[in-house]
Amino acid sequence: MQKRLIRKLDLEMLLSQVEPHPSPKPSLEQYTIPADVAATILYIAAYTHNDIVDKTVLDLGCGTGRLALGAAFLGAKQVVGVDIDKTAIKVACENSVKTGLKNRVQWIAADIDVVHGKFDTVLQNPPFGVQRRKADRKFLEKALEVGEIIYSLHKSSRKDKVFIKKLKTRGTNIVSVSPSSFIEKFVGEHGGTIRAVYAMLMTVPHMFNFHTKRKHEFVVDLYVIKGE
Ligand SMILES: C[S@@+](CC[C@H](N)C(=O)[O-])C[C@H]1O[C@@H](n2cnc3c(N)ncnc32)[C@H](O)[C@@H]1O
Repeated sequence: MQKRLIRKLDLEMLLSQVEPHPSPKPSLEQYTIPADVAATILYIAAYTHNDIVDKTVLDLGCGTGRLALGAAFLGAKQVVGVDIDKTAIKVACENSVKTGLKNRVQWIAADIDVVHGKFDTVLQNPPFGVQRRKADRKFLEKALEVGEIIYSLHKSSRKDKVFIKKLKTRGTNIVSVSPSSFIEKFVGEHGGTIRAVYAMLMTVPHMFNFHTKRKHEFVVDLYVIKGE
């Protein structure tokens, strides 16, 4: 188990070896989190808030495993990754071998509904609800039910060029922002409390037919939430 501080560059290099989904389905919004964004989230969770090392970690909608494998690499005590898609889980297993983290994550091919119990930390990059409205709410509900602390990524409504430029020019590429009123209300109604929100830029390559540009750059907000 990893106890020493890992350099962010080393984490990012490991995560860049994690293969994406070979045939992503638009209906499940199966894009893979970019390695730099995953490393930033894991770094904040591990070293700003102390929520990874020696903790039990659940990755809801784990896809091919970037967040789960990153948590294992940083020294989580136990990691579980759940995804509804069997191909994603098969590739996640292969990725755990490729990254030298075989048997460090328990992979489950199932709907997140099957998850019960309690985890110290939930990490999730859920479907943003772009294809299926409200898809992210089910993830937030489950995370609030089973997690003590939740790191949840959501698409931001911020699109202004000045804000994006600010994110690009800052050395760390993250800016603290206020929560969306909808998520704040939703979290409150489910017994949670928002601890922090960090905005960052995410760039995803052209993946689906409805993507009109070669790559798509947009702002995402990482919510750090205390569960019930
Ligand atoms: C945006 S992708 C993120 C994948 C991965 N966590 C990452 O960040 O690279 C969302 C993932 O949620 C999974 N998913 C969608 N609905 C699900 C459900 N009801 N139960 C479990 N997984 C689900 C999809 O198959 C997909 O892999």
